[in-house]
Amino acid sequence: MRQAGRVVATVLEILEKHVKPGVKTKELDEIAARELEKLGGKSSFKGYRGYPASLCVSVNDQIVHGIPGERVLKEGDIVSLDFGAIVNGFQGDSAVTVGVGKISPEAKRLIETAEGALYAGIAAARAKNRLGDISAAIQQYAESRRFSVVREYTGHGIGREMHEDPLIPNVGEPGTGPALRKGMTLALEPMVNAGGWRTRVGNDKWTVYTLDGSNSAHFEHTIAVTGGEAEVLTNRAQGHG
Ligand code: MF3
Ligand code: CO
Repeated sequence: MRQAGRVVATVLEILEKHVKPGVKTKELDEIAARELEKLGGKSSFKGYRGYPASLCVSVNDQIVHGIPGERVLKEGDIVSLDFGAIVNGFQGDSAVTVGVGKISPEAKRLIETAEGALYAGIAAARAKNRLGDISAAIQQYAESRRFSVVREYTGHGIGREMHEDPLIPNVGEPGTGPALRKGMTLALEPMVNAGGWRTRVGNDKWTVYTLDGSNSAHFEHTIAVTGGEAEVLTNRAQGHG
């Protein structure tokens, strides 16, 4: 799990550096596939339920599962990169949202809130806490900053498969749900919208959009529950803190 997490983090670090005005989203996918091959990993996404790429690239009002293509990034866009890899039979899954060139203060606040919500969830992911404590921490963090949290898509357990039990909603009640145990590996992934939480799926049957057209940001880490603070397996060098 640690190896897979490190590969995913390394690819995302490289991708972040390539996010600039004028770049096509499919160029990011090509870089992801090439770097993954160099690192000796296999894509978690390519072929998953027929998904055609190694990377999800979701721009502005696209929440998740954007298919890379001819779209050209422009100054002021916000772009979510979601990447998963299999290394030695284990999965890593992580996402980051970055601004393209100079972005608005509101967009910056949205991105910071989505990342903060992820870290609030990670802080709650402790043995003997319950799953609902993670969900509640994420929801509380985002909503206290007057953003909304997507309900139809969730985090998930992860291990040999990308999606394992349990589902990890990004909204919930503290003190509810199954107890967290040392050794559990989880993918937490809040999706935070500037407007309302409702979503729609686009004509390509993959891309998820905000229903109201507002911007959305997405952060994800694969973590391991320990005896103390959770271990972040997909930590990037220039990541949080
Ligand atoms: N990373 C996404 C998740 O956490 C999965 C991407 S969907 C895929 O569930 F089809 F691209 F694999
Ligand atoms: Co995931």
